[in-house]
Amino acid sequence: MAQKTWVRMVTAQTPTNIAVIKYWGKRDETLILPVNDSISVTLDPAHLCTITTVAVSPSFDQDRMWLNGKEISLSGGRYQNCLREIRARACEVEDKEKGIKIAKNDWEKLHVHVASYNNFPTAAGLASSAAGFACLVFALAKLMKAKEDNSELSAIARQGSGSACRSLFGGFVKWIMGKAEDGSDSLAVQLVDEKHWDELVIIIAVVSSRQKETSSTTGMRDSVETSLLLQHRAKEVVPKRIKQMEEAIKNRDFGSFAQLTCADSNQFHAVCLDTCPPIFYMNDTSHRQVKFLVSCQCASHSRSSSKFYMKCDDTKMVAYTFDAGPNAVLIAHNRKAATQLLQKLLFCFPPSSDADLNSYVIGDKSILKDAGIEDIKDVEALPPPPEIKDAQRCKGDVSYFICTKPGRGPGLLSDESLALLHPETGLPK
Ligand code: DP6
Repeated sequence: MAQKTWVRMVTAQTPTNIAVIKYWGKRDETLILPVNDSISVTLDPAHLCTITTVAVSPSFDQDRMWLNGKEISLSGGRYQNCLREIRARACEVEDKEKGIKIAKNDWEKLHVHVASYNNFPTAAGLASSAAGFACLVFALAKLMKAKEDNSELSAIARQGSGSACRSLFGGFVKWIMGKAEDGSDSLAVQLVDEKHWDELVIIIAVVSSRQKETSSTTGMRDSVETSLLLQHRAKEVVPKRIKQMEEAIKNRDFGSFAQLTCADSNQFHAVCLDTCPPIFYMNDTSHRQVKFLVSCQCASHSRSSSKFYMKCDDTKMVAYTFDAGPNAVLIAHNRKAATQLLQKLLFCFPPSSDADLNSYVIGDKSILKDAGIEDIKDVEALPPPPEIKDAQRCKGDVSYFICTKPGRGPGLLSDESLALLHPETGLPK
């Protein structure tokens, strides 16, 4: 009688992250080594995450992957690099109950199946590749019982997509650019965990869920080749900003945090404009949102002689940051500030007439409740923000809002019903 073949499976969940000091530009394209350090905040995986199931079986005849239900090719260099690096660290695995015994050297011959699912739009400028590669590497490391810690795994995830290395941790994370030519010291470290600054609230305005035009990879290559501003930024600006940002995070100094976050986002998009050909990630809605935020927090503007002063109200301050896409990521310093922000956002960016509130504000809906908004009629009845003179309502400019907060790092999902692959066939469920 033929021996019953086995399938060994692991399912993991990994968060996405948003950079508050941006990574933009590589000094080594293959190893994915950046031209500067970067810092990010990890988003709550309950609202934005990738779930990945990896499986190994002697019955698989090739490595295969399915993303959001569709089979994709694993032949690209980035996937191959991650698979090779993680296989090199695989250890012996034994599961007596299932009759599984895999020796260290067997991993070279065995094939894997990978199924991955994002609970947010892929390639919409919401760092889906970050969560995706981090989850792939984390899940494979667990499947193969690799002994490496998350920082060591981050150096592998980095070779899938740079920003992925920061998704190996929760809270605030720094990607140290490193100096070594082989990239061994270019890895992520956790600055503080998600509990350190847990009153922060993050609201993402999803402006478009269409595929972005210029990929980060192509965009940053063009910037490295053509932008003098990028050289100045990497050499002079970011090293100082990283230190200031670390201080602001350590001391939970929201004023400095917000100022640095906005300045760094602005500079990243200025580098994009300084690139030949210029890259436009922010669109008219993104620009309207920045204007809206600046008007909300700046109590008074006054011109005196040649200087233009803006008096910003600290309690109304909101940090904004935009990645390689038009979506705004807004960080409010506490729930009260977030509630007021959401009310103003919904006044200025209401849903199109046929939308329902339940799908217009997703994630942590309790903020909506705090804001006293229960249905679309409450949105229509919102008063104009007093700070904004002649506030316009831009109906339909925003597809939806996601309310979330800083969150934890990767974890395993032990509930087998959550696995994306069939436990017997190793094929998508
Ligand atoms: C604007 O990590 O997507 O989000 O390394 O080429 O895969 P590759 O690029 P990717 O770039 C992210 C750029 C950014 C800023 C950031 O996350 O730091």
